[in-house]
Amino acid sequence: MPDPSAAKRKPLISGNWKMHHNHFEAIQVVQKLAYLLGSDDFKEVDVSVHPPFTDIRSVQTTLFDQKRSEIAVGAQNCHFEDKGAFTGEVSPAFLPKLDVQYVIVGHSERRELFGETDEMVNQKVKAVIKHGMTPIMCCGETLEEREAGGADEKVTGQVRAGLAGLKAEQVGAMVIAYEPIWAIGTGKTATADDAEAMCRLIRETVEGVAGEEAAAAIRIQYGGSVKPANVKELMAQPDIDGALVGGASLDPEEFAKLVQYRLLEA
Ligand code: PGA
Repeated sequence: MPDPSAAKRKPLISGNWKMHHNHFEAIQVVQKLAYLLGSDDFKEVDVSVHPPFTDIRSVQTTLFDQKRSEIAVGAQNCHFEDKGAFTGEVSPAFLPKLDVQYVIVGHSERRELFGETDEMVNQKVKAVIKHGMTPIMCCGETLEEREAGGADEKVTGQVRAGLAGLKAEQVGAMVIAYEPIWAIGTGKTATADDAEAMCRLIRETVEGVAGEEAAAAIRIQYGGSVKPANVKELMAQPDIDGALVGGASLDPEEFAKLVQYRLLEA
């Protein structure tokens, strides 16, 4: 049986801006990023930026003008219905019109602060796929859960629930982000060994749900205080195929360093 970890997957580095940068600031950030990243970078790494909804149109047109369509536009969330009386929500059908390719689904802030359940996450994953985009489905445990020995169960439960009802090839084409909640925005990172162990377990879980091919193909990101100082070690792990970056993605110079992690000193 081939080792799913040995498969060659193109890394994906994603910048999750959360509720930062208005659209004027967003234009400056992506202009700088477009300048700092070169064509060679995109041969090695896929890159996405996930601005607030109000910035997406400006980011799309700026990247078009700068001829930097290799930087994919992403969203941070969407609703699972196509349309209807859902005041304040954004339809997944609107996003491909803005060239959005990736949508973060079930970020821990959405789950913890806005009450998103595993079932809603599953509905959103399906809606994103239905509209031809790639979900980046987040999972991760709290510090209490980790200390009580429940991290594996929490994460594998979220993965199984989030993937329910999907075809194997749909699973293989998506992205899962493992983000231990205690590492998000805290400056604390999981050790590379712990991050690898959980990403490996996620891949095994995917294999159980959707088979070997899907497990070998799916990209698994690590997220939680990823910085230029720790990215290289994390990216060297066999089951870590990229990073979902919050704080360090706001500054284009920092984010470009993460994209160019291969060039950083160990
Ligand atoms: P952080 O955020 O890099 O600021 O820890 C990561 C995330 O929430 O996606």
